[in-house]
Amino acid sequence: MLRSILPLGVALLGATSVLAVDPPSCSLDKKCPKEAPCCSQYNQCGVGAFCLGGCDPRMSFSLDSCMPAPVCKDKTYKMDSLDRYRDISEYLGDSSKVDWVGQGEPLLYNGNTLLTMPPKSVGTVLATTTYMWYGSVKAKIKTSRGAGVVTAFILFSDVKDEIDYEWVGVDLNTAQTNYYFQGITDYTQTGNLTVKDTYNTFHDYEIQWTPDEIKWLIDGKVGRVKKRADTWNATANQWNFPQTPSRVQISIWPGGLETNAKGTVDWAGGPIDWKGEEIQKYGYYFATFGEIKVECWKTDKAPGTSKGISYYYNDISALNNTVVDSNKGTILKSFLGTGTDVNKGDTTQSGSASSTSAVHAIPGGGVAPGGVVPGAGNNQNQGNNNNNGGSGGGSGGSGSTGNNNCGTSNFAQECNPGGGGDGAQGSTNGNTNNSARGADRTLGSSALAVIIGIAGLLLL
Ligand SMILES: *[C@@H]1O[C@H](CO)[C@@H](O)[C@H](O)[C@H]1NC(C)=O
Ligand SMILES: *[C@@H]1O[C@H](CO)[C@@H](O)[C@H](O)[C@H]1NC(C)=O
Ligand SMILES: *[C@@H]1O[C@H](CO)[C@@H](O)[C@H](O)[C@H]1NC(C)=O
Ligand SMILES: *[C@@H]1O[C@H](CO)[C@@H](O)[C@H](O)[C@H]1NC(C)=O
Repeated sequence: MLRSILPLGVALLGATSVLAVDPPSCSLDKKCPKEAPCCSQYNQCGVGAFCLGGCDPRMSFSLDSCMPAPVCKDKTYKMDSLDRYRDISEYLGDSSKVDWVGQGEPLLYNGNTLLTMPPKSVGTVLATTTYMWYGSVKAKIKTSRGAGVVTAFILFSDVKDEIDYEWVGVDLNTAQTNYYFQGITDYTQTGNLTVKDTYNTFHDYEIQWTPDEIKWLIDGKVGRVKKRADTWNATANQWNFPQTPSRVQISIWPGGLETNAKGTVDWAGGPIDWKGEEIQKYGYYFATFGEIKVECWKTDKAPGTSKGISYYYNDISALNNTVVDSNKGTILKSFLGTGTDVNKGDTTQSGSASSTSAVHAIPGGGVAPGGVVPGAGNNQNQGNNNNNGGSGGGSGGSGSTGNNNCGTSNFAQECNPGGGGDGAQGSTNGNTNNSARGADRTLGSSALAVIIGIAGLLLL
């Protein structure tokens, strides 16, 4: 089970404001406060990016705190360029200009996109900027390999409906499939599909999703079908079936992190070896993504239409009859904005963006990384084309090796606060400590969410 968006983020509240407080957490029973109304995918409250992709209206201050979600567009993503990729710290909701948002280190290699996981990092995750409300998505993928290394290709909605493919790096002949309804943990629904050599061979993995069934296909062959009719929950009087607009998310993440729950580490094939073969050869673990094709569900009446500009929810039950296909805008003026205050921080009001309020604007908090691609110098072929960092907060120092600044300018768990020395090979004290700090505020059930929440705190 997977949650995305890696920690990092730029202090776009103004270069000077280093946020000293942890963001408030949120859950179904504990909605976000008015001043930080948006509940992110990682169950933390904030404004700005917290109100975009992944914002859960059920846990936010009000149903309209989250920004509406851009509707489905038929699209083939070639994955041979990062021109239309942005770090979440650089995206305000204009899906006409940006196809993918994410965090971590995507790279181009041989006309494909590599999602990488350098030593001690939490990997890389990308999500589409548009949502699918039913439809089909097909991706050409070569998975990562190695104990504890997980590759994922999923559909994930803002209310945590989820349809998955996941691969663990110790079994290169199995694709695990699963689905979840509103994030309710139920690991009994896993289904394994046999597939040959997922690391060396590109296969086409496809999800076909309608209001009545989910089909998982590999290389055009149906491997599994789940019918809505078989998902009735008599207690709740509803279908435990994914039914809400979802982003396509692709990722590589460290299931085998020592600080993860034992069940997660075991599932992922054991602890990650940060000095393993892939690290030695390439400088990082990686998964390779070729063309990804999205086809929207074609229907004239709800559920599943995509005639408007955006989707929003009109009821907290978040079932398919509560999704509105609307003409509401999706773009914030600044990272101070929210669904109910879209224009906040408009740059025409100069100075407003340097607010010192301790409200978080990018999930994960903290500031952007310096050069954090340990592999960039090791293998010339892996040309690092991740130039999207731009100037914001010092991010995107592409290709520089040996930049191991710690403190607030480093990425995720690679940093060893107080440790000094070589960040990439640094001690794991940071991790251990974070595990303890994070434990009481990880409300989500998913392993990656836990990692993200923890890593985010490290930066604060
Ligand atoms: C699916 O495959 C994984 C990885 O090989 C294995 O650990 C798991 O037990 C399998 N699950 C089922 C239900 O067969
Ligand atoms: C059915 O719904 C109830 C009430 O919402 C929930 O507690 C339970 O976990 C659901 N059952 C399953 C199998 O998901
Ligand atoms: C969604 O919509 C369909 C068609 O309107 C309806 O039959 C179904 O009960 C709704 N719920 C789910 C889970 O699909
Ligand atoms: C862990 O964090 C606490 C405070 O959060 C700090 O006092 C302690 O020194 C940290 N330990 C390590 C090993 O970094």
